[in-house]
Amino acid sequence: MKLIHTVTDLRAALAGARDTAFVPTMGNLHAGHVSLVEMAREHGHPVVASLFVNPLQFGAGEDFERYPRTLDADCEKLAAAGCDLAFAPSVAEIYPAPQTFTIRVPDSLANDLCGAFRPGHFEGVATVVLKLFNLVQPRVAVFGKKDYQQLHVIRHLARQFNLPIGILGGETLREADGLAMSSRNGYLTPVERAQAPQLHRELAALDAALQAGDKDYDALAARARRHLNMAGWRVDYIAVRDAATLATPAIDSTRLVVLGAAWLGSTRLIDNVQFDLN
Ligand code: PAJ
Repeated sequence: MKLIHTVTDLRAALAGARDTAFVPTMGNLHAGHVSLVEMAREHGHPVVASLFVNPLQFGAGEDFERYPRTLDADCEKLAAAGCDLAFAPSVAEIYPAPQTFTIRVPDSLANDLCGAFRPGHFEGVATVVLKLFNLVQPRVAVFGKKDYQQLHVIRHLARQFNLPIGILGGETLREADGLAMSSRNGYLTPVERAQAPQLHRELAALDAALQAGDKDYDALAARARRHLNMAGWRVDYIAVRDAATLATPAIDSTRLVVLGAAWLGSTRLIDNVQFDLN
């Protein structure tokens, strides 16, 4: 596997490539990221992964500085997974000048769910992903359903800007106790780590109630929120949405997604479960 740090070297390495499969990441890779690389391998060649902690998508007071940077270990994992090229640029390489042109994400998405609690976050994500797409020029790009709203934003970005890139969604990989794998799990104290699977349990319980025919979305979400609050979490949101549109479900919506974001101490965790009501 080739490790590349500059735009010039990236362009040279990919000159002539027409079937590139791309996995954007912020590094500190875990098995969830690796599964996306494996999925990418089935859809194109060469497989390119980027490792870049994007300052534009972090708000003031968020964890940009303390976000774990583990390039050597990441490269070992990528090479083992069959990645052909790792692109790990510096901030100056991606933003040689202040990024004054940005993608404006529609308010309905930018201010909803995670966006409501992280102003500017999806604008920062969409902007860096468009830049990375322009650098790598992939035919397909793989994103995790773990960040369900992010995947939705990227699908719409690709569609609305006519990007000739297939956007693929990979399933969420979980620890044995159900906790969704995340680079941020490393922030958890042992006590918090033991408690963390509760977020997925509450979403799964809500899912089971919906599957049993309960359609009182707000009451179900309020109950999950109450359980988490009682256990010491600080809940940003718990919501039931249409899986395709992310809108409040219509009465005949059958593909639903239950999404949640909540804090344990100083760590913000997100998760979701999707299902068909049939
Ligand atoms: P990062 O959090 O590193 O995630 C990179 C990709 O891995 C994302 O598509 C994310 O959804 C996926 N992922 C994370 N946890 C996963 C899990 N448990 N199972 C499967 N996939 C998982 O998301 C970002 O980086 C950034 O916002 C980025 C898109 C790179 C733009 O900066």
